[in-house]
Amino acid sequence: MNSMAKVKTPVKPTGKKKGKGSPEGSPPEEEAPVEEPAHDKDSVVAHKMASEQREISVSEFFTKNRHLLGFDNPRKALLTTVKEAVDNSLDACEEAGVLPDVEVTIRPVEGNAERFRVIVEDNGPGIVKQQIPQIFAKLLYGSKFHRLRMSRGQQGIGISAAGMYGQLTTGQPVRITSRISSRKPAHYYEVVINTHKNEPDILKEEAVEWDKPRGTRVELVIEGKYQRGRLSVDDYLEQTAIANPHVEVLYEAPDGEKFKYPRAAKDLPTPPKEIKPHPYGVELGTLIKMLRGTSSRRVSGCLASDFSRVSPRVAAEICRGAGLDVTTSPKKVAVAEADRLLTAIRGTKIMAPSTDCLSPIGEDLIRKGLSRQIDAAFQCAVSRSPAVYRGNPFAIEAGIAFGGKLSPDGDKKPEQEATAPPKDKENEPEAVKLLRFANRVPLLYQPGACAITKAVVSIDWRSYGLQQPRGSLPLGPAVIFVHMASVWVPFTSESKEAVAHYPEILKEIKLALQECGRQLSMFINRRRRMAEEFKKRSYIEKYIPQLVIGLRDILGFSEADAKRCTKNLQAILEKTRGELDTSILGKKGAGTRNGE
Ligand SMILES: Nc1ncnc2c1ncn2[C@@H]1O[C@H](COP(=O)(O)OP(=O)(O)O)[C@@H](O)[C@H]1O
Ligand SMILES: [Mg+2]
Repeated sequence: MNSMAKVKTPVKPTGKKKGKGSPEGSPPEEEAPVEEPAHDKDSVVAHKMASEQREISVSEFFTKNRHLLGFDNPRKALLTTVKEAVDNSLDACEEAGVLPDVEVTIRPVEGNAERFRVIVEDNGPGIVKQQIPQIFAKLLYGSKFHRLRMSRGQQGIGISAAGMYGQLTTGQPVRITSRISSRKPAHYYEVVINTHKNEPDILKEEAVEWDKPRGTRVELVIEGKYQRGRLSVDDYLEQTAIANPHVEVLYEAPDGEKFKYPRAAKDLPTPPKEIKPHPYGVELGTLIKMLRGTSSRRVSGCLASDFSRVSPRVAAEICRGAGLDVTTSPKKVAVAEADRLLTAIRGTKIMAPSTDCLSPIGEDLIRKGLSRQIDAAFQCAVSRSPAVYRGNPFAIEAGIAFGGKLSPDGDKKPEQEATAPPKDKENEPEAVKLLRFANRVPLLYQPGACAITKAVVSIDWRSYGLQQPRGSLPLGPAVIFVHMASVWVPFTSESKEAVAHYPEILKEIKLALQECGRQLSMFINRRRRMAEEFKKRSYIEKYIPQLVIGLRDILGFSEADAKRCTKNLQAILEKTRGELDTSILGKKGAGTRNGE
């Protein structure tokens, strides 16, 4: 058909197509208006679709897809809301160099068992008045997305999403009180999000009295469900305290019970520095965007000033490798040239990224955090030196708490017969409790999708003294702690629940865990030796009275001699105690077999 040749550009339809159904009297001119009604039978559907095609606002998108942000069921929504607010408070306090004091209150809404009032208050820097509406009622608005620095939030879609969820499920606005200085008044706002435009609507705004010199208080009313135990707000706060020993949290649960997670470390973590992207991790599209947006006039200048670890000498070397003159204007670099630059970057030796952008917890504080929440017989921690994935520095830390009062589900229950060999299914030890953290935030959901779980499962724990069913977590009374600190944690979704499976990350997690595993197996072996020694000693101790009776008969001891003899024999037994340390054996002093 000749109509094929006529269609040159989609915006200027040539209009007339002869044949059945073609509009009579349709003008033969080439310049038909774009809005021309779809009379052409073939294009009817396309025109109908065109009438329905329009921009989708990010808020509308996430209203429909709120599961992507962690609001897929009421119980999880309550946790996500608390988590977004607390994570922001901790980020803000640390950025301001303040030891965080955070109060979390959850109250049931009277007359509606499915609604909760969530209040999170901090002693952070506060928020500048004009920014308050945007922060709490505009998705994708924040201070962390465009920088490369370790922080809990990164997307700018945390607290605003919680606000939107509250609005959607209860019709209530987000209520914010914030103050940035004792010399300035506090400001109170009530805001809702206009999901059509992804813009805030201010319902109320006023200066108020507030007894706090500085800080922020966020109040949301949401549909939720409160339930204690695994995956609960309580669980999240408890794990937050483990990974953030410098934080103090006061928590009032919906049933009125109050909890205090006191500060275990007096110092703030070293503030992480902001860095520029490392050239090894950059992708072609990003490189082109950076070349177009740079303020440098030369390619070499752009490479040296917009990337980390690129000196003018290295920049010149990269240009040489790409066959580009160093003086070329970055804005004029063609796509093919940028591609050559990328190849040259990968072939040039460039120093690893600096690591002062990370603030790992550290081995001491991991042990401290673990021992504060978990009463274990053994603890170890390993903090690896930083590595790089896709140009982003990251550091892995791991820890293990084992035995003691630690029950298989990780609570502070007395040690069960956990140390006896399993007799039947019921007595079989349970899987260890795995605590996953990213930038000090506990990850509670989607363990199966997370690189951390994958790394733990892929290790042969039997060689470290733990049982392990094939392809599963190891068994035994233990808690395994893994923390990934990075300037950009590669989460598998916006709800930030699981770390993506980058090989570099998996490798580092495994190395950290293997080191912990070696320390654990030394402990388990020592405990086994001691258990055996303890058993033998118990036999001897038991037979000392019999021995003394025998000696008394043979040698004719007096009562006093017999007593002295008993004492001496006990003293000899005590002297030869060697390395026996019953404190690590538990109160029965026996059994190391569980989980071995
Ligand atoms: N309690 C707070 N104190 C100070 N600033 C805050 C607080 N909560 C949020 N902010 C600011 O609001 C921004 C948006 O927060 P959020 O929507 O949770 O996104 P993100 O934390 O990913 O940046 C943050 O980047 C921060 O600048
Ligand atoms: Mg946030």
